[in-house]
Amino acid sequence: MELYTLIDFVALALAAIHFGVPLIYYSYLKRVALPRPWNVRADSSFLPKVSIIIPTYNEAQLITRKLDNIHRQNYPKDKVEIIIIDSASTDGTPDLVKKWGKEHPDTRFKLIVEPIRRGKGWALNEALKHVSIDSEIIIVTDVDSWWCDPDTLRKAASMFADPTIGAVSCIKIPEGARGIEASYRNYYNIVRIGESKLWSTPIFHGELAAFRKKLIEEIGGFPTDIGADDSHTATLIALKGYRSIIHDSITCIEAVPRKRYFQWRVRRAQHLIQHFTKTLQEIRKAPKEFRKILIAETFLHLLNPWILLTSTILFITSIVLTQSLTATALLTIGVALLTIKPYRTWIAQQIHLIVASIRNLWTKEIAWSKQTK
Ligand code: GDD
Ligand code: MN
Repeated sequence: MELYTLIDFVALALAAIHFGVPLIYYSYLKRVALPRPWNVRADSSFLPKVSIIIPTYNEAQLITRKLDNIHRQNYPKDKVEIIIIDSASTDGTPDLVKKWGKEHPDTRFKLIVEPIRRGKGWALNEALKHVSIDSEIIIVTDVDSWWCDPDTLRKAASMFADPTIGAVSCIKIPEGARGIEASYRNYYNIVRIGESKLWSTPIFHGELAAFRKKLIEEIGGFPTDIGADDSHTATLIALKGYRSIIHDSITCIEAVPRKRYFQWRVRRAQHLIQHFTKTLQEIRKAPKEFRKILIAETFLHLLNPWILLTSTILFITSIVLTQSLTATALLTIGVALLTIKPYRTWIAQQIHLIVASIRNLWTKEIAWSKQTK
């Protein structure tokens, strides 16, 4: 084989792997996993005591709306405690929280203020120290998110009646769903639900992340050395043999930043990469059903973006060195397809992951800068 045909061949093979693996995984989940029953023995009369932890850092704009949203939940008030953990906000967030607390004496409510900001994971661990002893479920929820229906808490809690369930999270809908973010979510939600039906998903959402308290204690609290506290905690719980599921009956709305969208996506990609890197050594210890899922997601987050980059570089090399017509044609098709939204979305995510891996070399973004939503 001539050198240039060899380069073209390798480039094409890499492109086939890059697009083929996720397509096969996606169709498998959609055709095989999605039609399956949940196999969760939920019990709607199961009303355990829950502690809702809300971490806040400069959330003055949204905190009142958030507390109102939680207050609307249809759950016995004496079985819920809300713990707000603030890390040195400078915009008066704690004052707004205190004001809200005074106006809602029916709500069991604690405000903890950390004098310095170390990041969300640290704050969550601080909050854990204040959780009532008889609480069974810990729910973490970000301020910039809303629970869609008043029975959200009931539904999430009811699943813990099944002793195999260790953690529960929600489907998320971007607020005012727009462009790339919205189309990314379609693909993404099917994958999350499919994985959850098979056994567990290694990716959780900060809009509603519910954990069995006993299990959080067993794993030693939330991670502080990486960013994806929600996904990592869920994964450690699944590694212990419990199920960590994203259930399609629970939906949350998430605010999407109006500015610096790219930076936002890159930072979240950084956190996911940190999470999958940290679980790397655990894969072989994973329960069988979960192992396959973890391998697939680790591949998709850590390796697959680089396969696309290598393929592109090889095509360009081939065009420059040998004026290969095949390479020119294939690369042109690759670029032309960018007019199709799902494809554009996919490529954007690969770019986020590549930039994120590089940024991870010098910053972990554990205490990230606040974005306007
Ligand atoms: N107490 C405290 N201390 N809270 C914090 C800190 C901190 O240092 N940093 C952020 N928070 C709070 C915010 O006020 C918000 O309620 C929540 O943590 C999430 O912060 P966002 O700034 O909205 O983060 P995001 O939505 O972009 O990040 C998402 O991905 C992360 C992992 O990549 C969220 O889902 C996070 O929950 C998740 O950890
Ligand atoms: Mn957020």
